[in-house]
Amino acid sequence: MKERKSKFSRDFGPAARNMDESLEPSELQNPVPWPLIAIALALAIAGGVTLYLDAKATPRGEDAQQERTAADEGAAPVDASVAEMDDAEGDFAVAQGAALFGTYCATCHQTNGSGVRGAIPPLDGSRYVLADAQVPAAILLRGIAGPIEVKGELYNGRMPTFHATLEDEEIALILTHIRAKWSNTAEMVSPDQVAGVRQALDGDLGRPWESGSELEDAFGIEAAPAADDEGEPAVSGQDADAQEDPQ
Ligand code: HEC
Repeated sequence: MKERKSKFSRDFGPAARNMDESLEPSELQNPVPWPLIAIALALAIAGGVTLYLDAKATPRGEDAQQERTAADEGAAPVDASVAEMDDAEGDFAVAQGAALFGTYCATCHQTNGSGVRGAIPPLDGSRYVLADAQVPAAILLRGIAGPIEVKGELYNGRMPTFHATLEDEEIALILTHIRAKWSNTAEMVSPDQVAGVRQALDGDLGRPWESGSELEDAFGIEAAPAADDEGEPAVSGQDADAQEDPQ
């Protein structure tokens, strides 16, 4: 009898005690299990931390200005951004030269630089375009009205002056464009070069060049081949090639 009793108490005693502990009144009034509360708290804290860090990463107002200035002054990023700027400025200059050409020259000389047969001389392969940079600069600054031979064709028209319309920098951009475009591969032209020509021509800017030969004399460039060369029939393939060459 005694043994049975003790066995009973050994088997159910601890279970009964645990049951008492787990049935506390406070837990009955708060049925949300503690692991859920813990997770919710953890999420709330994580969210708060994220918001705080975000706010620090993208500061606003004066703080933002100061932080960005401080970042700009860092040595390595400055080098990188200068290199990028040079590239961007180069691209911009090329685009600007093309745009100015489109506005001021393409109506006559055509977008492809071919000119108009019998009326407007070509710029593609023209020895006046490819000569020393002073020559095309002088043509733009004074205009030209009189006989001029370009790529074996004689023209006798009138090109307006641009000395009052275009700044030195704009002329430099246009000349750099036409000297590097199509089949042309001549050096770029700087605004200083144009300014130098403008200064040298001062007093004559209102008077257009009278002919291609006046330009040749003024700048000591090679004279155009005699006009009657063109009429001669090509006697060999070599001659035919020579006539195709830019002159
Ligand atoms: C109104 C039409 C017209 C416009 C606009 C014009 N040109 Fe001309 N250009 C001519 C004519 C015509 C000649 C030849 C003039 C002559 O026969 O004396 C010429 C000659 C030239 C020549 C020398 C010959 C040659 O073909 O190489 C160059 C260089 C030139 N122009 C560049 C330009 C550039 C660059 C622009 C734009 C800034 C421009 N021209 C705008 C009509 C024009």
